[in-house]
Amino acid sequence: MGMEQKGKIIISEEEIQGKVRELAGQISKDYEGLNPIIITVLRGAVYFMVDLTRYLTIPHRIDFLAISSYGPAAQTGGVRITKDLDLDIHDEHVLILEDIVDTGLTLHYLLRILKERGPASIKICTFLDRAAQRIADLHIDYRGFEVGEAFVVGYGLDRDEKFRNLQYIMAVEE
Ligand code: IMP
Ligand code: MG
Repeated sequence: MGMEQKGKIIISEEEIQGKVRELAGQISKDYEGLNPIIITVLRGAVYFMVDLTRYLTIPHRIDFLAISSYGPAAQTGGVRITKDLDLDIHDEHVLILEDIVDTGLTLHYLLRILKERGPASIKICTFLDRAAQRIADLHIDYRGFEVGEAFVVGYGLDRDEKFRNLQYIMAVEE
């Protein structure tokens, strides 16, 4: 039950920070003059958000929401907002940050809920993308890295609430 975890580092701290700066540069360019609301899905994406926003060169606001799926999302196909946004996103430009998109079902349902509030635009930025697992038809606007099948931890991603604070991404041996 220590901090040790068997696995292989697949993305280093240097690679992560380089990519986060690159994404922040692109987002700063694309959202020039739009004063976007950056929405972070709790809790894994918090680490990514903190680094990303520090490199943004444009005015923006941040907000948070938490969701839980009704059982396995793949079977029941629904998410519930357990902590809602504080900001009103009507007529606002919204960018959602996620730690990893796997089946895409979570974000698919979240998008449906948020679109009903009438944002001016809504885009997705995910730190990791496991596209081979995708079930939902979801357009990813910004992605950090593509990952394979193996479960990953670190940089916000957990296994049983552990390992979020690793500076790198590690593929875990189950
Ligand atoms: P999905 O896209 O609806 O299948 O679910 C994505 C969510 O599952 C992410 O936001 C993570 O919370 C979790 N998740 C999926 N794959 C991993 C992984 O490899 N490590 C840690 N969490 C994961
Ligand atoms: Mg998550």
